[in-house]
Amino acid sequence: MSLASIAPASVTPAGTNPAPALTGQGVALAFGGIKVLQGLDVTFRAGEITGLIGPNGAGKTSLFNCLTGAYRPTGGTIHYGTAPLDGLSPAERARKGIVRSFQTVALCPDLTVAENVMMGLARDYRAGWASAFLPLARGRRERAAMMDGAMAALTTLGLERTASAYPGALPPGTQRLVEIARAIAGKPSVLLLDEPAAGLNTAETRELTRALRRLAAPDLVMVVVEHDMDLVMSICDRITVLNFGTIVASGAPDAIRRDPDVQRIYLGTEDD
Ligand SMILES: Nc1ncnc2c1ncn2[C@@H]1O[C@H](COP(=O)(O)OP(=O)(O)OP(=O)(O)O)[C@@H](O)[C@H]1O
Ligand SMILES: [Mg+2]
Repeated sequence: MSLASIAPASVTPAGTNPAPALTGQGVALAFGGIKVLQGLDVTFRAGEITGLIGPNGAGKTSLFNCLTGAYRPTGGTIHYGTAPLDGLSPAERARKGIVRSFQTVALCPDLTVAENVMMGLARDYRAGWASAFLPLARGRRERAAMMDGAMAALTTLGLERTASAYPGALPPGTQRLVEIARAIAGKPSVLLLDEPAAGLNTAETRELTRALRRLAAPDLVMVVVEHDMDLVMSICDRITVLNFGTIVASGAPDAIRRDPDVQRIYLGTEDD
């Protein structure tokens, strides 16, 4: 199956307005007296893969939670293009194509791999995901279309042979890839991946790296939180470094690698 089949449908032609970026202005988050995000200004551009890195507890997942609406920031605003997202629920943001994968795998154990991935397509179907399981004509048609979409996403990640397995029967690394397949199945406009390589073995990480590179498209905002520096350095066009809820550095991978503040943060904990 061609990768083009899961790339965003409308690719921005050269010379027209660029696709929308996901931006945050002064995004702040606090729990009790603890400032987890201290007024971040971020721009995640379409057509680029941005790496979001930083030590444990830096605020990476918290920023994703603010972007997706899981957390309500205590300050600042978030926009997709010119549209403010503040006040929209995670489901409403998902309907706008803003999807994420979770740091901890969250698949439904009673559904097959293909059915789990079909859940990522629910917003595209009038009758809804649940009706695809009812013995109605429209439900059957929708189920068939959703199955095609799920298989396309699984094939992109080399997972087509796992389609009828149950998640619990698969190694943890494969389950994580299934979750990424679910995130990409609905052809998102913003794809936020939280540690996609965690728990993957070397071969799976290589497969994931290739898949993420191929997934990059002019219309797609892709942000990857990841501790695997080889993966980050090899796929990211731009990297933002967080520490204690503030941005330490932001720029091209080479500049980030040479940045003395970044080197200090990572000294002895990362491979550069
Ligand atoms: N719901 C919450 N309640 C209280 N504190 C929280 C909550 N969510 C996050 N935090 C705190 O916010 C800080 C940032 O956590 P976060 O999970 O965003 O870090 P991270 O950069 O994703 O780290 P890791 O690399 O370990 O996943 C931590 O100190 C964490 O304890
Ligand atoms: Mg995290």
